[in-house]
Amino acid sequence: MIAYLNGQFLPLAEAKISVLDRGFVFGDGIYELVPVYSRKPFRLDEHLRRLQGSLDGIRLANPHGVAEWRERILKLIERQDFADQSVYIQVTRGTPAEGQPPRDHAFPQGVPPTVFMFAQPLVTATAGQKAAGVCAVTAPDNRWQRCNIKAISLLPNILLRQQAVDAGCAETVMLRDGFLSEGAASNIFVVKDGVLLAPPPSNLILTGITYDLVLELAAAHGMPHEVRAISEAEVRSAAELWMTSSTKEIMAIVKLDGVPVGAGVPGPLAQRMDALYQTFKHQVMRA
Ligand SMILES: Cc1ncc(COP(=O)(O)O)c(C=O)c1O
Repeated sequence: MIAYLNGQFLPLAEAKISVLDRGFVFGDGIYELVPVYSRKPFRLDEHLRRLQGSLDGIRLANPHGVAEWRERILKLIERQDFADQSVYIQVTRGTPAEGQPPRDHAFPQGVPPTVFMFAQPLVTATAGQKAAGVCAVTAPDNRWQRCNIKAISLLPNILLRQQAVDAGCAETVMLRDGFLSEGAASNIFVVKDGVLLAPPPSNLILTGITYDLVLELAAAHGMPHEVRAISEAEVRSAAELWMTSSTKEIMAIVKLDGVPVGAGVPGPLAQRMDALYQTFKHQVMRA
């Protein structure tokens, strides 16, 4: 696997940074994850826009313009020997220079950010998961109040997601103050009375690129939908529950905390949205 580090392409195992990098010491950085199908990045402009939003959120200047990012990402994609990829992009606040305090919370001045990217084979939902759906557990959302920043400091998400893994499930659905926020690594949609419900974008969720596309497709194809706060009771009495993300796409959650969701199988709207999503993806990839 070929990685990219601060302007250079090199084998992943040879990519090295200082132990004083702010990403390592403080988790002071942000990231993006772009799915790539047949060597074509999917919704790259949207990912780069969100990357800019995350950089703005942590007050770190973007080291590259959109065209520069695009060029570097396409080169990284070309250099892999597999076609379907998941490209990971990370930008940290860099390494303090000689003479600067090696570890100080305050931003170091005049230090270039560290830019690291690598690609790994894309692991999407399996056919079995798509057909049967997956189970999820719930947990209180105990993360910070700036979940709209795609920060590399993911410890709360890791601990939350592990609760699902420990229960033999795919995802942890988070609830904050009695309302649905999102999954530990996904957005969550609810279907109720034939209407697709999505929690509104805010500082309490990461607005997924997949989330946006699902709502775009719902609007374009006349699927009734509403963006509004969703109560815990509505989550627990949902006819359908979905998790969405760039790698898992649309996956039906068929059991929540051990209780079947709706009929306990992927519902008709999930199947319809998955079909719309696959059609859209193939159209974009052919273009
Ligand atoms: C916390 C969180 N919310 C939502 C998402 C979904 O975002 P996207 O659809 O852009 O992959 C992710 C993806 O990793 C995530 O980590």
